[in-house]
Amino acid sequence: MEVSLSQSTTTSPSAGVGFAVRVKNVSMDFGTGAPAVDGVSFDLEPGKFLTILGPSGSGKTTLLRMIAGFQKPTRGEITIGGKPVDAAPPHRRSIGMVFQRLALFPHMTAAENVAFPLKMRRFDPASVPARVKAFLDLVRLGGYGERRINELSGGQQQRVAIARALVFEPELLLLDEPLAALDRKLREEMQLEFRRIQHELGVTTINVTHDQREALVVSDDIIVMDGGRIQQHAKPVTMYREPGNPFVAGFLGVSSFVEGHAVPGGLSIGGRTLGGLPVGEITEGEPVRGAIRAEQIRIGPIDAPLADCDTRIAGVVRDVIFEGDRLLYVVRGEIGESVEFQIYHHDPAAFSLFEAGRPVAIGWRRNDLKIFRSASPTGRISGKPK
Ligand SMILES: Nc1ncnc2c1ncn2[C@@H]1O[C@H](COP(=O)(O)OP(=O)(O)OP(=O)(O)O)[C@@H](O)[C@H]1O
Ligand SMILES: [Mg+2]
Repeated sequence: MEVSLSQSTTTSPSAGVGFAVRVKNVSMDFGTGAPAVDGVSFDLEPGKFLTILGPSGSGKTTLLRMIAGFQKPTRGEITIGGKPVDAAPPHRRSIGMVFQRLALFPHMTAAENVAFPLKMRRFDPASVPARVKAFLDLVRLGGYGERRINELSGGQQQRVAIARALVFEPELLLLDEPLAALDRKLREEMQLEFRRIQHELGVTTINVTHDQREALVVSDDIIVMDGGRIQQHAKPVTMYREPGNPFVAGFLGVSSFVEGHAVPGGLSIGGRTLGGLPVGEITEGEPVRGAIRAEQIRIGPIDAPLADCDTRIAGVVRDVIFEGDRLLYVVRGEIGESVEFQIYHHDPAAFSLFEAGRPVAIGWRRNDLKIFRSASPTGRISGKPK
């Protein structure tokens, strides 16, 4: 579907430039114990797409609300395009938003909702219908313009909200789980669509999600949050391949964890040394946690060699989970007091199905085992490794 999005009008003279966002040492303390957002700092260049990823309650919405200027931080500063967020009243800010709780006007039609920001911003009335239609088409709601909001499904309402946020070609787009109510296929299509629109309009975007695929697919940068703090800020490939701490390793993708003590070149567990790649400063003898991703472990018959592996462990299959395009094996590795490993296995013809109870060999390349200090740098790891 092709819609011309760059039909800029005199009312948005700088459309396509995007705002830089600067968040400096920002905290939000609701006075309920731990702060919801705790000392967060980052810069976002104009035109870039940032995703904030984190578990429920990690402070994502609170941070986004502060960036939108809806909530004043208890500490720190936020500037957008070089100016404090609250320098202009909300309807004068060039910020498009889709929040978790959609604030659509239920008594208006979809088209009227999408037209609303154009009226507020005094777009040429003659241009409004075509623009509204273009953006309803964009979110695949062509033909639904005359429906009232309460006559649309949840996912359709969500898409009206997206069209309404984009229709005036804002310089900053703030999205709080805008795709959460959509079915997987539509969600994945919309993710790519977001990417395309974002490129086309050059709009600086901050997207909140707990869908890791979405984060990896659409973002220039990702911030992973937990307990109100930034755990890591990196490009998608780096975030996935070089997680900075065990929380990130466990949150993005599927990882198995091995607890041991640091020895030169790896970690020691139950009298055996596993080679690994240390992440950050690690002192010999200190408690460490090794992390290995499910797709980096190979599984094979107990009595045969494993290709491409320099580390090998005997184990027993505990469970086999059919995920359609792959199998997830849960294997009890015979190391230390036994460690549970999760292993992805792509075997379309199911030539080598290992049923539960079967002894197997598992293995990996030593550099794929990332070794972290057991005490996380932030000390606030909420995702308990398996
Ligand atoms: N107005 C409020 N008053 C008190 N506590 C709040 C308020 N809003 C949020 N919190 C708390 O702050 C923390 C972060 O909440 P927030 O809504 O930012 O999380 P989130 O990462 O968006 O989670 P989710 O993925 O579930 O939407 C939570 O512990 C929440 O209970
Ligand atoms: Mg939220």
